[in-house]
Amino acid sequence: MKLKILVTEGDGIGPEIVKEALAVLEEVTQAGGHTLELDHKRIGGVAIEKDGTPLPADTVAAALDSEAVFLGAVGDDKFDALPASKRPEAGLLALRAALGGFANLRPVFSFKELTINSPLRSEIIEGTDIMFVRELLGGLYYGQPRGWDKEKGVGVNTMVYKREEVVRVARTAFQLAQKRRKLVTSVDKANVLEVSQLWRDTVTEVAKEFPDVALEHQFVDAMSMHLMKRPRDFDVVVTENTFGDILTDEASVITGSLGMLPSGTVGGKIGLFEPAHGSAPKHANKNIANPLATILTGALMLRHTFGLDAEADAIVKAVRKVLEQGFRTQDLARTNPEGLTVLGTREMGEKVRETVKEQLLAASF
Ligand code: IPM
Ligand code: MN
Repeated sequence: MKLKILVTEGDGIGPEIVKEALAVLEEVTQAGGHTLELDHKRIGGVAIEKDGTPLPADTVAAALDSEAVFLGAVGDDKFDALPASKRPEAGLLALRAALGGFANLRPVFSFKELTINSPLRSEIIEGTDIMFVRELLGGLYYGQPRGWDKEKGVGVNTMVYKREEVVRVARTAFQLAQKRRKLVTSVDKANVLEVSQLWRDTVTEVAKEFPDVALEHQFVDAMSMHLMKRPRDFDVVVTENTFGDILTDEASVITGSLGMLPSGTVGGKIGLFEPAHGSAPKHANKNIANPLATILTGALMLRHTFGLDAEADAIVKAVRKVLEQGFRTQDLARTNPEGLTVLGTREMGEKVRETVKEQLLAASF
């Protein structure tokens, strides 16, 4: 099989982490007799500088001509003064809209070796395994009207959802839950917001199509607390765009680092795969960035776009093994450096690659 992928490295640490993830993907796919057919295009700050726009037309064209888009990260403080519509992030939002994926999957699971990295106690987080389904194409991020009238001193964004937009993302959540522990937690603010009342009502309706899956509702404020106190109680969590953005950063505390959180967006014509963390420009080009979220994002892409479950499993297993052996990037070693080997971005990528290779060799005998 040929895997036709558009790579958009983006800004900051993007190019470094993507390079390592691609090398791992190359290793596992080759072993299975598949080939990566890669194209590279610009997005974000680098595109603003070279093309005068955060999302050049040829990037969109190449994205629409691929089976999946693999993205590093976008954003740089040097563009902070620009209006929202001209910033690097606007390029990402426009790409998400162009690709049409509405369900952003963010699996949050605790790696045993990293529980010590979390400020939460091990007995609270050990065994956590949550699949967040964040609605990605609606709500405040895209709602009209929006704007900032500087003269009047008024800023406005609109949290708006149509029933169909809720139905489709809710179905994705229930379908995922059917293959997991059969519980969906829907998060809203239905005690205050009409848009959340629509959300809750719609998810309740959709639940009737999935009698084998239990549904519970939580308010977003309470949910942010439950996540810290009893994360193991959740299976699939479905929520709107902004709540999902916030809750998934919060939930990354469970994994020990935001540098461990992969993400992939499905449901549209073309999948978009990007780690959940940002571009961390301060850490760029120092060989210190953690490539593991991006490597795990590669696994998500193999699983959800290409159906290569065995290859995806091999990557996750290799990451586990590397952690078990005491290898860490700097961000993961800060709290407990003793007995650990701190690796740079490239060396961590290489370790995962070697480990994947060993596993594949062992499996073929
Ligand atoms: C994320 C990021 C993006 C978002 C930014 C970079 C636009 O924070 O993927 O969570 O808010 O969706
Ligand atoms: Mn975010």
